[in-house]
Amino acid sequence: MKNAVVLFGSPRKRGNTAELARTVIGTLKEKGWGVRTLYLNDMHIRPCQGCYTCLPEGVCKIEDDMRDVRKYMMESDLIIYATPIYWFGPSGQLKLAMDRSIAFMDENFASRLKGKSAITLTTFGDENMDSCQPAIDMFKKTFELLNISYAGQVNAPGCQPEGGVGHQYIEKAKVLADSIV
Ligand SMILES: Cc1cc2nc3c(=O)[nH]c(=O)nc-3n(C[C@H](O)[C@H](O)[C@H](O)COP(=O)(O)O)c2cc1C
Repeated sequence: MKNAVVLFGSPRKRGNTAELARTVIGTLKEKGWGVRTLYLNDMHIRPCQGCYTCLPEGVCKIEDDMRDVRKYMMESDLIIYATPIYWFGPSGQLKLAMDRSIAFMDENFASRLKGKSAITLTTFGDENMDSCQPAIDMFKKTFELLNISYAGQVNAPGCQPEGGVGHQYIEKAKVLADSIV
């Protein structure tokens, strides 16, 4: 069985990002995938301290929930980054976990995540797709450095707090999840 982990970056478990993520999770499960969702907002993840002591062994000196996040990422074939756009970037909850991903690099900056795939799901209020572009650029460069393949993205504009996600983006999320092998 293939496994996926969702790095869920929204503080709202019934919000727009959750709606989009639910679609992807449901489709993957129908295909027989095991999917674990990590609600980053509920986890204790301290900011990276920039000490680089993690590089040789991949073990961060901070003892917090990032240990579980790293474990589940290592065990997964697919990593799903799901986040609302906050000020043109990912949420702080997700950014903290991304910063701490330095522990996936070794002293030669080779990646311990090599060979895995990632997809990204974003929701945002603006009708203009430009709003998510800085986050997408960041994901793309991050995945290049982590040596994981960027298997696709769904970006849902026009998402107001109580408005929900447009049906065309739900459809895109189904198609994306269906395309993952
Ligand atoms: C702190 C904050 C910053 C936001 N920044 C942006 C932004 O830069 N661009 C945008 O289009 N929407 C922005 N939004 C709107 C959210 O991205 C949007 O409503 C999103 O769908 C919320 O996701 P959720 O329902 O999972 O909480 C922001 C919302 C908050 C609370």
